Amino acid sequence: MPITTVFRYIKPEVSPREDPEGFVKGARDFIRKHVKSDDKVKIMVSGGIDSSVTAVLFYLEIGDRLYVTHVDTGFMRLIGGKEESQLIADRFSEFKNFKLINARSLFYEKVMGIRDAEQKRIGFRKAYEIITDQQMRESNCNVMTQGTILPDIIETEGGIKSQHNVQLRFSNVQKIVEPLAGLFKDEVRKVAEFLWSNYKMKVLENISRRQPFPGPGLSIRAVGNITPEKLEVEKRANDIVEQMIDEYTRKKYNTNLYIDERTGEQIPFQSFAAIFDGIFTEEVNDLIPSLMEKKRKNIKYKILDANVTGLKNNKRVYAPPLCIESYVDLSYDILEKIGSEIPLKTSFPRVLYKVNSNSGSSRYVIAIRSVNSIDAITASVNKIPIVEVKRIANEIVRQCNVKEVYWDISPKPPATIEYE
Ligand code: XMP
Repeated sequence: MPITTVFRYIKPEVSPREDPEGFVKGARDFIRKHVKSDDKVKIMVSGGIDSSVTAVLFYLEIGDRLYVTHVDTGFMRLIGGKEESQLIADRFSEFKNFKLINARSLFYEKVMGIRDAEQKRIGFRKAYEIITDQQMRESNCNVMTQGTILPDIIETEGGIKSQHNVQLRFSNVQKIVEPLAGLFKDEVRKVAEFLWSNYKMKVLENISRRQPFPGPGLSIRAVGNITPEKLEVEKRANDIVEQMIDEYTRKKYNTNLYIDERTGEQIPFQSFAAIFDGIFTEEVNDLIPSLMEKKRKNIKYKILDANVTGLKNNKRVYAPPLCIESYVDLSYDILEKIGSEIPLKTSFPRVLYKVNSNSGSSRYVIAIRSVNSIDAITASVNKIPIVEVKRIANEIVRQCNVKEVYWDISPKPPATIEYE
């Protein structure tokens, strides 16, 4: 296997926060320096802001020597009831060498039937490497680019995350050139805004306020073993959560993503649904009730038989989430306390608060998550009024065959944003 050399624009001369135009100039110089005039460059786009901005920077610099592929892994979302991969193909229609490929069967073969989160990520990564190598060969490309950003590198090198653009192994790639590797998400948004206002390429329309979506997609939101049925329910529930939180945010802030100019916090940074098989163990560590004050004795606790991720001493850990149920609505003051204290004092990395249930035959449990964050390194719960969260949960119960719906009240750390 040939050695792949990675060139990262890790220390841009100017930050896009102050001077997006200056950053774009520097990034294009960086591309010119590392891509020869006869190189052909491949980018695998997820459709998110990082890969879209990277594709545009290269397109501006090398034009049709850029070969763009989007892989429909089968783990992409539904957006407003439409398959996201089709929407992405439409956004990239200005790129001459764009290809949408359906690789669902390979991804399903490598990921479905595996319970362990780490093994699932490895399976996903393997499928991604196979497809990327095939695509490099088919387009006869020797160079690759990716939308890797600084938190990806920090978290991977810090041992927090094992799956990423940072750890891939290809057999057909000589060189990887990453122009956004020195940026945080808010800086990428600034670059996207600058590029959109100057070049008006369709792929950039509304991209600067698009929420991040993980490379392994819904495979890390269908916790544990994935079956086709579980994936279908997850897709539908995720679409409901994204749409309804989007509507709520637009009503409240007049935009789908509000950015606090002073702190840089993005509200919401991300909103989504995760699905669990819904097997519970009723025994609860004595410590939990004793952590609560007397007035919270009317809270019931149970443990989901699933492993979700959390952070302990800056390392990723896997443990079951604690589910709580209360006969009276709990205020955010109490929920915040429970959500942060329990993970600190026990081995549960997360706390989920029950917001709806259904007496039907389904075994699935849904968790709704919505967080605010500046850079995904830390995150806080997006305090949507509980009555609004219950409205979303009702809609999930109405449209999907699920048993219970929970609201995730855990900040990062000690939880993570995603569940695996
Ligand atoms: P966590 O769950 O680690 O997520 O708090 C932090 C941010 O990274 C995204 N994420 C990923 N993105 N590949 C990606 O491209 C991944 O494997 C992956 N895992 C998490 C997550 O959605 C959040 O924005």
